[in-house]
Amino acid sequence: MENLLSNARTHTPPGTRVHVRVGMTEAGRGTGGTDRPGRTTASPPLPEGLPISVVEVADEGPGLEPVDAELVFERFYRADPARSRSHGGSGLGLAIAATIAEGHGGRLELDTAPGRGCTFRLVLPAADSGPERR
Ligand SMILES: Nc1ncnc2c1ncn2[C@@H]1O[C@H](COP(=O)(O)OP(=O)(O)O)[C@@H](O)[C@H]1O
Ligand SMILES: [Mg+2]
Repeated sequence: MENLLSNARTHTPPGTRVHVRVGMTEAGRGTGGTDRPGRTTASPPLPEGLPISVVEVADEGPGLEPVDAELVFERFYRADPARSRSHGGSGLGLAIAATIAEGHGGRLELDTAPGRGCTFRLVLPAADSGPERR
């Protein structure tokens, strides 16, 4: 969450608007958790209709080309190393966040296209969604 916010700040031009949304819904194409064109993730899809909690960080920045969007969850990947070096990013933030999300039975995903900004979405199974309950 913190990394998503700092990414939205450091990897977009100054003044770029960022929207944070939190909610509960069911996994699906429109809500998150399942796959669709323009969405990338390092994790498998959740079952369609699964109750989920969602935290979304959506920026109005330049967005990413599909080839970069496919790679942002890889360790050490930085779409623009020349610029990224100036803020000292390691390229590990999203890889770590994605691993943690998957450890909790959820996933981290990105909806983006050039000119459409980046919407990073943390999707977790809702606390009372059955087998996941402890
Ligand atoms: N909101 C964003 N807008 C555009 N590019 C982004 C955004 N968030 C992440 N990226 C790209 O994904 C790469 C990987 O992000 P991350 O794993 O957090 O590493 P770091 O922030 O250390 O560079 C970044 O270097 C950047 O190229
Ligand atoms: Mg980062």
